[in-house]
Amino acid sequence: RPVLKVGVLGSGTVGTQVVRLLGEQAEEFAARSGARLEVTGIAVRDLAAPRDPAVPRELLTDDATAVATSNDIVIELIGGIEPARTLILAAFRAGASVITGNKALIAAHGPELYAAAAAADVDFYYEAAVAGAIPVVYALRESMAGDRVTSVLGIVNGTTNYILDEMSTKGLSFEDALATAQELGYAEADPTADVDGLDAAAKAAIIASLAFHTRVGIDDVLVEGIRSITAEDIREAHASGCELKLLAIAQRVALDDAAEGVSVRVHPALVPADHPLASVHGAFNAVLVEAESAGRLMFYGKGAGGAPTASAVLSDVVAAAAHRVNGGQAPRESSYADLPVLGPEAA
Ligand code: NDP
Ligand code: HSE
Repeated sequence: RPVLKVGVLGSGTVGTQVVRLLGEQAEEFAARSGARLEVTGIAVRDLAAPRDPAVPRELLTDDATAVATSNDIVIELIGGIEPARTLILAAFRAGASVITGNKALIAAHGPELYAAAAAADVDFYYEAAVAGAIPVVYALRESMAGDRVTSVLGIVNGTTNYILDEMSTKGLSFEDALATAQELGYAEADPTADVDGLDAAAKAAIIASLAFHTRVGIDDVLVEGIRSITAEDIREAHASGCELKLLAIAQRVALDDAAEGVSVRVHPALVPADHPLASVHGAFNAVLVEAESAGRLMFYGKGAGGAPTASAVLSDVVAAAAHRVNGGQAPRESSYADLPVLGPEAA
């Protein structure tokens, strides 16, 4: 089998699990992808920090640019906008296929990244960017390509669902629940992105772009987080037979002139107790898709955490590796419908 060199940018919650699984299941990945996947470098910020024993210390480096530009497949798991953006663009220019879980970056700079991947004629995959282990990106981009999606409704942030659930079922304070979510590896490096709804908004923008084949960026999304939710709000929700959930809602909407547009928003919502999203607990995510021919589809699973997210990352690695060995390519940006996107004021 041919050997493909793999560079990993970041060895935190997700990167560590990706490296562990690539090592432990090397034979299976070779069989599934058609290539031996050899990790040649793992870029981190702090070389002296303690690491999981599954991360070979001799592969650690603080030269992220070298890792980004000297491999066949580059996996970006640093997070944030910079230096992730610059490193990914450098990886494309160096001819690498790129896999990322970085929804913030895609929601802010998706078109630039797609264009760079297309110019370099390499794959760009991001299954882990939306809803952790749940294959929502694949489902919307490929499985639903034969249908007309009318709405997507989801719980897409594990941290906030965990916090609301702990407040609701155990009476925990907001602060205590957030601290546990951070310990469990669900929260972003800066948990403000979770708590204030920005992480869910980035995912909603990606979901809407895929579902409606148009470009939706984070600035198009109306966002309200859960910071102001109190124990009293939760008691009132229960008294009215509901659960409080942070929902991402992307809809095809009718405009005045009979044309259609897209509306995307993220906010806390009262969900009736018998609705399927009301029973999504802990850091689990769920995504309900309504489509004209298929009707309702529901996707459910672990939305955050190292190993579940690594599962999504590695599915992309297998696809990208198989393309490098056998030919073929990841789907390119889907922006052909070009529906008008209503801004946050109108959403
Ligand atoms: P972590 O904060 O746990 O890890 C980030 C890693 O990146 C660390 O190893 C850090 O190094 C390294 N790093 C940070 N800055 C630099 C830099 N400038 N150069 C080199 N390395 C750097 O993040 P996660 O693993 O939680 O998340 C990674 C990505 O995956 C993010 O985009 C996140 O949104 C996404 N994601 C995360 C999920 C989760 O459940 N955690 C789920 C889905 C997606 P050091 O270790 O030295 O600090
Ligand atoms: N911080 C994110 C969450 C990680 O809690 O959902 C998964 O994208």
